[in-house]
Amino acid sequence: MSSKDWEAENYYSKDFDWEQLREEVENNPSFQFHFLPFSPNQIADQDAEEEAHQEDSQAWDQFHARHSTGKFFKERRYLLKEFPELASCEKNSKVLEVGCGNGSTALPILRGREDIILYACDCSNEALERAKHIVSAANSISTIHRFHPFLCDFSTTGFPSLLSCNNCSRDFSQKRSSGFSGVNSSYEINDVNPVCPDETKCCIGGTDFVTLIFTLSALPLDRMPKAIKHCFDVLKPGGLLLFRDYGLYDMTMLRFGPDRRMGYREYLRPDRTRSFFFCLDTVRSLASAAGFTEMELEYCCVKSVNRRNGKIMKRVWVHGKFQKPTCT
Ligand SMILES: C[S@@+](CC[C@H](N)C(=O)[O-])C[C@H]1O[C@@H](n2cnc3c(N)ncnc32)[C@H](O)[C@@H]1O
Repeated sequence: MSSKDWEAENYYSKDFDWEQLREEVENNPSFQFHFLPFSPNQIADQDAEEEAHQEDSQAWDQFHARHSTGKFFKERRYLLKEFPELASCEKNSKVLEVGCGNGSTALPILRGREDIILYACDCSNEALERAKHIVSAANSISTIHRFHPFLCDFSTTGFPSLLSCNNCSRDFSQKRSSGFSGVNSSYEINDVNPVCPDETKCCIGGTDFVTLIFTLSALPLDRMPKAIKHCFDVLKPGGLLLFRDYGLYDMTMLRFGPDRRMGYREYLRPDRTRSFFFCLDTVRSLASAAGFTEMELEYCCVKSVNRRNGKIMKRVWVHGKFQKPTCT
């Protein structure tokens, strides 16, 4: 991923019609390889799968180590416009930012409301270092005291039970859990607010929001259903999943060559990080299979001009908002 890609995400509007782009792409012979069915040449056993998870996290660690300068950091200033609930929510609301990277999403949320409490996870320790540094440097309205970063691969382990114990999660499981079940790391959650209805007061009672901003696309498609379910389980009833990610036929998808395909609509960048490109139906089925109710789901289509060569770039993102039902 280049810093240009990252930068380009800082827009929101409807500059062109997605259906028209779909027609152009699907009728262009040079893009036909993107639509070929994909047959993986082997079915991975559990060890191979575990190794693949580690490779994915290592690729992100290296990515964050390479982009360690503040120059690469781009605060997502559009975030509160896209998701105004983050500004108008109740006092002391809790947000979980999943795959926080260097804090591009975390910082505007913390700045937006001076009482919001933000938990932020990433599978990369390097990313957490960067995020912590950037949030402390922001030095405004005591952001750092409300920022709780922790290491976690949400697609495998799920989230620590300290965020939402079994009693507080959707299925109201009979099991009682009393401890932090996250990955052992120098980043652990502290300052627990004991609002858990369980008499053990073992967790914070779930979060009001989960933000999933350009993170789900980093996972292989087969790990997405479980990952979204983990987001569902950590939310309080009525809580919101706020989603934004790469959309089908985004210019960065069309730049991949055939050798970069890892699956249907799945690609591997030269730095070995993954990228999936979502159509609305894929996001819709993932969210509804997890139990969410759809509130908003649409393509954001943005045209911008490459300053170096004057070429028009058509960017496509998916914007979504989903609610955990109050009664399940
Ligand atoms: C494109 S960045 C997005 C960062 C941030 N959400 C933002 O808005 O800028 C994707 C982030 O997801 C993290 N990530 C990738 N796979 C993950 C996983 N399985 N669990 C947790 N974090 C993951 C990467 O380390 C990276 O920091």
